[in-house]
Amino acid sequence: MLITRRFRFSAAHRYYDESLSPEENRRLFAKCAGAHGHGHNYVLDVTVSGPLDPRTGMIVNLKDLKASVNDLVIERYDFKHLNFDLDDFKGTQPTCEQIVVTIWKLLDGKLPGCELARLRLYESDDLFAEYEGR
Ligand code: NI
Repeated sequence: MLITRRFRFSAAHRYYDESLSPEENRRLFAKCAGAHGHGHNYVLDVTVSGPLDPRTGMIVNLKDLKASVNDLVIERYDFKHLNFDLDDFKGTQPTCEQIVVTIWKLLDGKLPGCELARLRLYESDDLFAEYEGR
């Protein structure tokens, strides 16, 4: 049994590899290499699994799930510049794929009474990355 709850956060990012020249960065990352970055309204679908409790009719208390994801992820990333305000993406780029792997590490093993099964992170309506821990 799986259940999914949707979360939202807004954050800015920039793709820039300091080991490359400005020209190489522009070639590789195009507009995403701009000095100040740009923002996205991210949509995060958190899917958890667990046995259905016949008494409650639930696999997880959604209030607890919401509180955990808000504490561990949304508070951390909402209204942040992912390159400059935290160290989570040092040595890499805060791409949709990399962010979803980082969020997995923040949540895995820390959800109340359920297992993290899948994350889907939308950067826009047309682009999302999905991760199941491998
Ligand atoms: Ni972007």
